[in-house]
Amino acid sequence: MKMAIYLREIRLINKNFSDNYWCRLPFYRELYSGKDISFNTPVTFFVGENGSGKSTLIEAIAVAMGYNAEGGSKNFNFSTKNTTSMLYDELQLCRVAYENDGFFLRAESFYNVATNIDDLRINIDNYGGKSLHHQSHGESFLSLVQNRFRGNGFYILDEPEAALSPMRQLTLLMEINNLVKNNSQFIIATHSPILLAYPDAQIYNLDAGIEGIAYAETEQYKITKNFLDNPNRFIERLFDSEFSNDS
Ligand SMILES: Nc1ncnc2c1ncn2[C@@H]1O[C@H](COP(=O)(O)OP(=O)(O)O)[C@@H](O)[C@H]1O
Ligand SMILES: [Mg+2]
Repeated sequence: MKMAIYLREIRLINKNFSDNYWCRLPFYRELYSGKDISFNTPVTFFVGENGSGKSTLIEAIAVAMGYNAEGGSKNFNFSTKNTTSMLYDELQLCRVAYENDGFFLRAESFYNVATNIDDLRINIDNYGGKSLHHQSHGESFLSLVQNRFRGNGFYILDEPEAALSPMRQLTLLMEINNLVKNNSQFIIATHSPILLAYPDAQIYNLDAGIEGIAYAETEQYKITKNFLDNPNRFIERLFDSEFSNDS
């Protein structure tokens, strides 16, 4: 299969170890010690517990690549709050090609992207012919991917599963695959054991640094599998005093 890679690698330059919040995150310590992050597959995932720094890292990558910190394409420059970290300024990108299309999609600020699209009166045919505010969160999220992502692109998605039913996560997997076949690269932060199953994707776990990990070794896979293998037993054990905090 032909694969397009636009961003091959990132590393830290202008090292600025200080009391910035991201300097305490395990992934930063590893970058600081000289490790780089390479993107050798069209789809790369970042996993890790809540607070492990997935959003911080992929936002910095998005901003360093020229995208708006709150989401959107390169033409979006709205800002509703100023929480963007300066980490992007410390990143050196190894770009091996330039994308024709691109989007930074974060579930948590998708509302603002939809508002910005309405405000700009961007041709709403690009978004399914209907204001994104007049579609459900999941519908509008998916219609953006289906109608606005054109291929030959670089797409950064932050927890895209947040709005999507399991069925629609499968649809998203198919859309990702079609776009990959059409020369696209994805970098995705996710907790979804469905999305993580994308074949031959690189998965990095940020819990203790930057660790390449196999699909079946991820917490997302193991916990979900254990749970679904026997929900009753799992819940019994979970509620059992052995596992309970107040025992
Ligand atoms: N603007 C900010 N100021 C201070 N701390 C922040 C800021 N944004 C995130 N953090 C902290 O950095 C850590 C990583 O956050 P985040 O990147 O959102 O994690 P994740 O996306 O993996 O859940 C969290 O502990 C969070 O509280
Ligand atoms: Mg996050």
